[in-house]
Amino acid sequence: MKYTTITDTAAAARQLDALAPVYETVFAEPPYLEGPRDVADFLQRYQHEHKTPGFRLVTAHTDGSEGSGLAGFAYGLPLATSTGWWTGLLDTNLPEAFTREDGHRTFVVMELAVLPHHRGHGIGQTLHTALLEGLTAERVTLTVRPEAPAAAWYEHLGYTPVGHTQPWDGAPIYRSLIKMLRT
Ligand SMILES: CC(C)(COP(=O)(O)OP(=O)(O)OC[C@H]1O[C@@H](n2cnc3c(N)ncnc32)[C@H](O)[C@@H]1OP(=O)(O)O)[C@@H](O)C(=O)NCCC(=O)NCCS
Repeated sequence: MKYTTITDTAAAARQLDALAPVYETVFAEPPYLEGPRDVADFLQRYQHEHKTPGFRLVTAHTDGSEGSGLAGFAYGLPLATSTGWWTGLLDTNLPEAFTREDGHRTFVVMELAVLPHHRGHGIGQTLHTALLEGLTAERVTLTVRPEAPAAAWYEHLGYTPVGHTQPWDGAPIYRSLIKMLRT
């Protein structure tokens, strides 16, 4: 497997055509059951996110005799000073000293996906390690559906729950997780 870290905006933009079919396949599975509308939302989000300073994308490519192709990807970006990331939590009121952001303090893992037939071989974990490699952020956060196998997987990777969030009315409930990189 070949892993590539991309931080250049133009190079990140060029990856979108390869990311889309992986996203579509992975998030069509339960509990996500996403369809074309959700994939279109992903494409639109990515168009904005990949231009954010501090954006990082890591891709995992097969390079074997069966030909090359994307097996998985992970990307993320720093939380902006003006973020509402921590204030939308349903079941907890975090102190200002915790929620304060300066554009560098917290890195968000936005998406992490490995194609079903490539799972269980350490690709997800390697993508995650590469995504965080060299970061100067104090902590990493992400949200995950509590009923997804990935929820236990992230705890296995050292994340701890902070609370729950519902990004919009009628949206599923997500668990917000955090992992400290330095104190
Ligand atoms: C979550 C996901 C990225 C994991 O990828 P993967 O390549 O299968 O994971 P890995 O093979 O790297 O996992 C390796 C480690 O996690 C452990 N693990 C695997 N599944 C686990 C689970 N459900 N709960 C706890 N630990 C788990 C393995 O035992 C292994 O641990 P070890 O190295 O200590 O032996 C993949 O399942 C996926 O794409 N899921 C669908 C998309 C998704 O839910 N993404 C996250 C939300 S954005």
